[in-house]
Amino acid sequence: MIHAQYPALRPRRSRAHAWSRSLVAETVLSPADLIWPLFVTEGTNTREPIATMPGVERLSVDLLAAAAKEAAALGIPCLALFPNTAAADRSDDGAEALNPGNLMCRAVAAIKAGGANIGVLTDVALDPYTSHGHDGLLDAQHRIVNDASVDILVRQALNQARAGADIIAPSDMMDGRVGAIRAALEAEGFHDVQIMAYAAKYASAFYGPFRDAVGSGGYLKGDKKTYQMDFANSDEALREVALDLAEGADSVMVKPGLPYLDIVRRVKDRFEVPVFAYQVSGEYAMMQAAAAAGVLDRDKAMIETLTAFKRAGCAGVLTYFARDAARLLG
Ligand code: PBG
Repeated sequence: MIHAQYPALRPRRSRAHAWSRSLVAETVLSPADLIWPLFVTEGTNTREPIATMPGVERLSVDLLAAAAKEAAALGIPCLALFPNTAAADRSDDGAEALNPGNLMCRAVAAIKAGGANIGVLTDVALDPYTSHGHDGLLDAQHRIVNDASVDILVRQALNQARAGADIIAPSDMMDGRVGAIRAALEAEGFHDVQIMAYAAKYASAFYGPFRDAVGSGGYLKGDKKTYQMDFANSDEALREVALDLAEGADSVMVKPGLPYLDIVRRVKDRFEVPVFAYQVSGEYAMMQAAAAAGVLDRDKAMIETLTAFKRAGCAGVLTYFARDAARLLG
């Protein structure tokens, strides 16, 4: 309860100086809040620019250990990896996801061998490996079949855990996959491998640049609305989160980010677990484009948006700005 009135109470007093603003700040953003997504490609000493994501490059496996060390030195605690699988290795059933020598597994192994003190999060979903660009398997009528998809996603997760992944992050939105993955990890002795569930993942227009980055966009037929959530819904996000937690998720994610901070806040208030958000490719591209057009101060907008995620209740944020933000914050 506030009893005092103006002029006894002047909220501007505490904003009058930088020292005072920092003293009363309710939220602090630090590099330790950031997860840096990296795109991986075949080749040696290869950096491929991604046209729709200015400033982001796909890196060949041999460059990853250095990127991991750079991130760790900046205080970034975790990387998220996404492979741009060669066209020849994509198929209807996404079997390349199960190959112990696939790009993802080689990437994880290279980072681990490099010795950087940093976590590695791997994405579980079939879209970088399928010739149709969907996250699961299709039946003859081109419907995404749930349970058969879960079976292969479980094997994909085990493949990643064997390669050294620290956090398994299922982004596919099939029903029941978190429980099935947890059970399989336990059965193989991967008790300490975490699961960060993409729990409230919406069918969104903001994923377009990512699909260019992993090369799935050109293949994708139709949309992902039978498995990703309807952006009209909020209660449903709580149900998705409750299910994933009951199935054994260690943390949950809301995705996309900035247009969904209401969901972050509801999830944070309802469940006592770490909540993450993904500031996705379209959000990144939008801000880069605005900055390039001279209508936005990129660095200021970057720090403001990342702080907003924390204010909304996030434990951390997956963001393509991670390295730049960590440099600024450092
Ligand atoms: C796919 C996946 C997507 C993203 C992460 N994992 C795209 C999609 O669902 O089509 C999006 C990330 C981004 O846009 O930055 N499993």
